[in-house]
Amino acid sequence: LRLRAPQTADARSIVPMIGDFEIAKNLSSAPHPYFETDWYELLDRVNEGHARGTDFTFVITRASDGAVMGMCGVHWRDGGFFEIGYWLGRPHWGEGFATEAARRISAFAFHDLKVETLVAGYFADNPASGRVLAKLGFAPDGMRIKDSRARKAPVECNMMLLPREHFGRRRIAA
Ligand SMILES: CC(C)(COP(=O)(O)OP(=O)(O)OC[C@H]1O[C@@H](n2cnc3c(N)ncnc32)[C@H](O)[C@@H]1OP(=O)(O)O)[C@@H](O)C(=O)NCCC(=O)NCCS
Repeated sequence: LRLRAPQTADARSIVPMIGDFEIAKNLSSAPHPYFETDWYELLDRVNEGHARGTDFTFVITRASDGAVMGMCGVHWRDGGFFEIGYWLGRPHWGEGFATEAARRISAFAFHDLKVETLVAGYFADNPASGRVLAKLGFAPDGMRIKDSRARKAPVECNMMLLPREHFGRRRIAA
């Protein structure tokens, strides 16, 4: 896969994929239903955050043909830490892409942003994401209640931590 900056024209492929409740329900901030205007608002936030050094969001594409498969990113949180996130369109599940994307974005955070410890969280009813994080070396750091915008409800969220020294030493460009 390849990671690149999100663009206006990605609305065509992103909006139908993230509009799937099975995806949105596992993310904290994605609305449901998801409209094209939500994508443009996200782009504004991402561009603003990028300029301030607080948001680094990428579109995940298939290297062979450039097809858009999902998104990943690393985001500065008010608590004073960087958190990673990722999602893939349903047709692309189960092929190891989330693990590869999460590994790339973590490498970007450690090497380019000089982050010391990365944070991630997954909802308790989303064990596949927990497995992705465990494969990268993330370790449990307690449970929090987080709001899911799509579910319009608070959900148990397992928090995970990855200190720089627990991440593979191989340099993987984002
Ligand atoms: C969760 C998600 C990112 C996984 O993407 P993916 O590309 O299928 O993930 P990968 O193939 O890299 O790895 C998934 C791992 O979870 C495992 N897994 C899948 N379903 C599982 C389940 N129900 N219980 C436990 N493990 C599960 C897989 O076997 C695999 O582990 P393995 O390599 O040891 O066999 C994807 O389903 C998704 O985008 N979901 C919606 C959004 C989301 O949940 N984002 C993450 C928010 S924290």
